[in-house]
Amino acid sequence: MFESLQTLPPDAILGLIAEHKADPRDNKVDLGVGVYMTPEGTTPVLDVVKRAEQFLVDTEDSKAYIGTAGFAAFNAAMQKLTFADSASADRLVTIQGPGGSGCLRVAAGLLTRARADAPVWVGEPTWVNHVPLLGGAGLELKLHPWYDTEKHVLRMDDLLDAMRRIPKGDVVLLHACCHNPSGMDPDEQQWRDIADIIVERDLLPFIDMAYQGFARDLDQDAFIVRHLADKVPEMIVSNSCSKNFGLYRDRVGSLSVLCENTANRDTIASQLSNIVRTIYSLPPDHGAAVVAKVLGDAELYEHWLQELAGMRDRLAAMRMLMNDALLAAAPDHDFSHLARATGMFSFLGITSEQVDALKKDYGIYMVGTSRINVAGITEGNVGYLASSIAAVL
Ligand code: LMR
Repeated sequence: MFESLQTLPPDAILGLIAEHKADPRDNKVDLGVGVYMTPEGTTPVLDVVKRAEQFLVDTEDSKAYIGTAGFAAFNAAMQKLTFADSASADRLVTIQGPGGSGCLRVAAGLLTRARADAPVWVGEPTWVNHVPLLGGAGLELKLHPWYDTEKHVLRMDDLLDAMRRIPKGDVVLLHACCHNPSGMDPDEQQWRDIADIIVERDLLPFIDMAYQGFARDLDQDAFIVRHLADKVPEMIVSNSCSKNFGLYRDRVGSLSVLCENTANRDTIASQLSNIVRTIYSLPPDHGAAVVAKVLGDAELYEHWLQELAGMRDRLAAMRMLMNDALLAAAPDHDFSHLARATGMFSFLGITSEQVDALKKDYGIYMVGTSRINVAGITEGNVGYLASSIAAVL
């Protein structure tokens, strides 16, 4: 049966986990997969998560199935976190899913059922897994301009021009904040301009919000979602709790669909339920129960905001530190985009050969496109990083 299958190369991002782990060098640095790290280079469980988990250990009295949509309290809390009061709840359906990726996959199922040939427009570049994940579900992916990898700025004029030519009714996938891989987001006016074209062209916004709270704060990071909710008849939003709750391996996310009206919402809810049943039957519970507890408990919620701000502030500080260190080590090169971007990722802006040299000669790991996870930078390794990067330029 399986003789015809070929061995595939490791995943461009996840493959780096094993490669970095196997490297015996003491001074190796992991700037690969997008997980938050402390100055000590660890990815600890958030304190609020530990406390909510303890609550669950003490009080949970059943592991019986809940249902395809998951835990109602989680869904209501995630809906509020996403939309605040920008959309009426009777037009929204929210389900719990296995991480942001699982939610994207369910959304892809909904799109293919609604309009099998609906192209989804993604920015160039986008998260490397968007294309195989959505394409693997049967959707046709098309590219629009997003980021200039030479000048390290958004290609706003090209983007708006291209969007004006997208056929009416097509789907446009946008990153709500902390664009992965560039870290470069539109400002509020630029988002308004994008939204105007979405309305004008009657496009379906499909928003991937995997880093809410990592750029500015929970509300500002949801700007485009809430701005559009007020303007469009339909929209899809996929949330991940991997980063802002640090629940990576527990696989927690939510998928919300803004529907034209309440009757339509019931239809869409039934379709989502059926899609879930045909892929993974029911979502994993534990992480979502933790998030529901944190979001529903005033004291834990406040504590979570502090822990989230701590992660966000460290990422911003490491961007500055790296920019300063590179300015000193490689004064002829401009890395100032590192300081202008937000969230976990930026392109360093070096060639794939230079990325390979950093890995081979210095034990510094990043995605082949030169995307770095700034959480891997510390006060202890920034000097080594900057001198090594300068050495391969
Ligand atoms: C990343 O982009 O590194 C993260 O979103 C992890 C992943 O699944 O790729």
